[in-house]
Amino acid sequence: MSEKKLKFNSKTIHGGQEPDKAYGSVMPPIYQTSTYAQTTPGGHQGYEYSRSANPTRTALEKGLASIENGNYGLAFGSGLAAIDAVIKLLEPGDEVVSTNDLYGGSYRLFKQVFEKYGIVFHFIGMQDLDVIESHINAKTKLLWVETPTNPMMNVIDVRGVAALAKKHDVLLAVDNTFATPYLQLPLDLGADIVMHSATKYLGGHSDVVVGALVVRDKDLADRLYFIQNASGAVCGPMDSFLVLRGIKTLHVRMQRHCENGRAVAEYLAGNPKIEKVYWPGFDSHPNHEIAKSQMSDFGGMISFVPKGSSYEEAIKIVEKLGLFTLAESLGGVESLAGHPASMTHASIPKEEREKSGVVDSLIRLSVGIEDADDLIADLEQAIG
Ligand SMILES: Cc1ncc(COP(=O)(O)O)c(C=O)c1O
Repeated sequence: MSEKKLKFNSKTIHGGQEPDKAYGSVMPPIYQTSTYAQTTPGGHQGYEYSRSANPTRTALEKGLASIENGNYGLAFGSGLAAIDAVIKLLEPGDEVVSTNDLYGGSYRLFKQVFEKYGIVFHFIGMQDLDVIESHINAKTKLLWVETPTNPMMNVIDVRGVAALAKKHDVLLAVDNTFATPYLQLPLDLGADIVMHSATKYLGGHSDVVVGALVVRDKDLADRLYFIQNASGAVCGPMDSFLVLRGIKTLHVRMQRHCENGRAVAEYLAGNPKIEKVYWPGFDSHPNHEIAKSQMSDFGGMISFVPKGSSYEEAIKIVEKLGLFTLAESLGGVESLAGHPASMTHASIPKEEREKSGVVDSLIRLSVGIEDADDLIADLEQAIG
């Protein structure tokens, strides 16, 4: 059966994969090598040096391309390394319009690393397409979208932004870390580049740091492959293997993340000690209709604010949680809780942060795949 015809669950397991040529091993071997023997200069079997290409990384890159309905996948040493490669497509003077409510490390990379090379970033709320369009000018080369956003769970209309990108002939990149291709396929919605912190749901087991890009266009892929090799921020074969293994259970994990996410979100919304719950699955979520039209379910990421919006109360809750581990990161099988203002988003200045709702009392949950009842009992004892 042609691979393009496989449905998503089959692609997670078989997409881009073939038994290894040497012994037919079903999982790709971890080719723990930096270099490859040549019979004569240039006489090799497709691999010459592992920064340029490594067979285990190739297996992952093909798998990534398959699950995102793309043609070319690229794996990097971290999600930020993947973003770094995208921004290196630009020239000094070029402008980027980006979500204002985005992962703090992406913001830091844009502001503190790339601004000094003359790239101009506009951080804006992207719920309104007219507002986005008003920030596009002749120098704009890239629209950077994170949806759902981290940590406010805003949902951005990818089809709408893609139409703007086409109209103005600029690239659209979507950070698909929170949704994963199980829930949302940005390339199908019209994006040019899809990006992942594969550290999160794709790896799925909190044991690896990897980044990914997937594109359809050959010329764009070639420019990114050049940057990947020239800048060298690649992931190693062991890390490639771990993400590839993670992807094989992505669909079953995501199904449970979504079920548990709904149970926890509903519990929080019904708790009188909680002031606000941010989760795109609620009918009352301001972007619920868009979420429904571009996502197949709503995921396991939830943010909430305790009543009175007190910093002390938020810290008390995260310290009392037991089954939810207080930790950076998300998307693993185990449930994690985070305090964005002091952890993941500490690199965004307070005034900037608060403009998008990341107040000091906000708590973010990555709901794992444990029993939902146990997760709710843990929240109950912590919230009191
Ligand atoms: C939405 C999002 N994008 C990008 C990143 C950066 O990825 P990495 O930590 O793998 O560099 C993260 C990390 O938390 C993230 O949550």
